[in-house]
Formats: sequence, C-alpha cells, structure tokens
Amino acid sequence: MRTEHRVINANASDMSEIKNESIALVVTSPPYPMIEMWDDCFCGQDARIIGDLQNGKGTIAFEWMHQILDRVWHEVDRVVIPGGIVCVNIGDATRTVNGVFQMFSNHSRIISTFHNMGYCVLPDVIWRKPSNSPNKFMGSGMYPAGAYVTYEHEYILIFRKGDKRAFTSDKKMRQRSAYFWEERNIWFSDLWDIKGIRQKVDKKTDRARSAAFPFEIPYRLINMYSIFGDTVLDPFAGTGTTMLAAMAAGRNSIGIDIEPTFVNYSISAMQKDPQVLNRYTETRLQAHQRFIETLSQAQQEKCYQNENYPFLVKTRQEVKAFFPIISESEPAENGVYCRYHPSAMRSASV
Ligand SMILES: C[S@@+](CC[C@H](N)C(=O)[O-])C[C@H]1O[C@@H](n2cnc3c(N)ncnc32)[C@H](O)[C@@H]1O
Repeated sequence: MRTEHRVINANASDMSEIKNESIALVVTSPPYPMIEMWDDCFCGQDARIIGDLQNGKGTIAFEWMHQILDRVWHEVDRVVIPGGIVCVNIGDATRTVNGVFQMFSNHSRIISTFHNMGYCVLPDVIWRKPSNSPNKFMGSGMYPAGAYVTYEHEYILIFRKGDKRAFTSDKKMRQRSAYFWEERNIWFSDLWDIKGIRQKVDKKTDRARSAAFPFEIPYRLINMYSIFGDTVLDPFAGTGTTMLAAMAAGRNSIGIDIEPTFVNYSISAMQKDPQVLNRYTETRLQAHQRFIETLSQAQQEKCYQNENYPFLVKTRQEVKAFFPIISESEPAENGVYCRYHPSAMRSASV
C-alpha cells in the first residue's frame, strides 16, 4: 500500500490542479471571520473589508469575509465526489464593533452556504475547549442583565454532497477501513472534549497565526468518513495537520494554503520521521486490547476474531479491520509518498 501527500501554494478559490469529483473527504478549518487575528488575512483578499472594519460596519465586513470563504466552498463542491463529505471546523466570533459587544455566527453562515449549494446538512459536533482564563466572564459581573456567556466551544460542521456514497467495487476496502466499536461510541457523540495542543511552528508570529487544530480532530474525521485509497483535501491547510493525519490513517491527501510560509512548514512536517505518526495507530491498538480485557468472560465469548490481528472485536463489522503502520516515507515534490507494512503483525503492540 502506498499513499501520496502534497501541498500547493494557492488561493483555494481556484484549485485547478485538482480534478473534478476526485476528493472523497474535505477536512478543514478556515480563517475565522471577525476574529481579529484573521483580519489581515481577509483584508489582503478583499480591500473593502478594512474600511468597513474601521468605520464600524461589522455586519458588512462579516459578509465580505464570508464571501471569500464562499468562493472556496464552491470550488470544494467542484472537486468533491457525489456522496463525499465536507467537515468544517469553525468557531463563532465575539467582538465589540462601534462600542457594541456582539456575536458573529460563523457556523450558521457556513451552514447556510452549504444548504444553498444543495448539500445535506448532517448533525454536527461541538468541540468543547474549556478556558482556564481567570477573566473569562465578561460584562457586568453579578449585576443583571449585562453579562455575557463565555464561549468555550467550536463546531465541526458536517455536510454531504447529495445522497449517501455508494460502495460497490470498493466494498472490501470499506470493510478493511472499519474502526473499533468502542471508538464509534466516542467519535459519533456530539460533544468532543479535546484539548488544544501547542504547535511547534518555528517563529512565534507563525505559531500565533497558525491556529492549528489538534491532530485528534482530523484523525477522527478521516477514519469516520473515508476509506483506504481515498484522497482527503484541506483547502486551508495551515501547518498541515490534516495531511499528517491522512498519512497516519493510510489515506492520500492534498493541502492548499495561500501563505508560502505555511506550505513550507507543512512540507517539512510531512518529511519528518513517520514513527511519530505510527504511535497514534499503535496507541489505538493498545487501547482496543485494554478494552477487550475489561469485558467479562461471557461478553468475550460473544465477540469475534479479527482476521488480521490476534485480538477479539465486538462486532462482525470489525473482523476485517486493518490499521496501517508506515514503513517508510519518501520525499516527493511538495510532499511525500508513504509505504505501509503489508502485514498487520508488524506492530510490536499486538
Ligand atoms: C485556521 S488556519 C488552518 C490551520 C490548520 N487546520 C492547521 O492545523 O494548521 C487557516 C489557514 O487558511 C489559510 N488561508 C486563508 N485564506 C486562504 C485562501 N483563500 N486559500 C487558501 N488558504 C487560505 C491561512 O493562510 C491559514 O493557514
């Protein structure tokens, strides 16, 4: 098994290097409209925004920013296969404009775009990110009614292009791509409690601007919504977290970013020693074995034998499940090729 991963420096409103209907899954997090750290990014793409922000026309600036994202969402629609899934991580913005504190609902604006493009809007996930800040409560303190609810969550919006994807010739690949029963129970819940991770971008300014999501987010989504052989796209690739997760999960990937600094950063991240990525897979295998050990004798007797590993699984659907371990990665133009151990038994953890 071999996968390919590359990053392209471009504005994702024109992804002409990517063929029509060639992408099975999009996992991405765009710059967040009306969050100040992204003002320069949006102003650089539409000169009208700066004037509107300076003149206190927050609602208009919000709309221009979303129109920049809309152009990318329409291009995403061109490259996604029928039945393909688009996952968008987005937070709403709270901001004082013209002296008035208010919320700008990015998630509902993006849902509206996908709805208008004819996508099926699926149940979303709330990613809860608790804040430890002592000043997290804003407004009038203990006096009614001028205090504001603290925002400690983001959304993972999930959309499907049309009807359910049909798996025919790739039915076996789908069975091989199964996840564990106990993972399903956590991954398909609507509340994910995942801590943000400090990113290792070299310069402080880049770290501040990267706003990278934790590896666990794209890794779960890729396992939940794609199969081996698929290509995953991140049109706002940043530090390349989605591509790293695709490497670990044994899917192909393409990233796009408008900033050359981030493109270079993600290429070098992908070309590092893949053993770090293998640890995520090995941790999953170990967690599964611990889970099986917690089952009573009677429960274990109702389990099934996985065909690739010497462990039991809860359901018949997990019998062919395979968890790829990267054997080597080879630098390619703007990315890497990964090869995987053909046998599941390479993993020392099983
Ligand atoms: C929130 S960050 C993505 C972070 C990424 N998920 C990670 O883990 O590092 C948004 C990224 O979108 C990029 N960007 C903004 N506008 C873009 C556009 N029109 N086309 C492509 N990339 C864009 C920014 O340079 C930034 O790297």
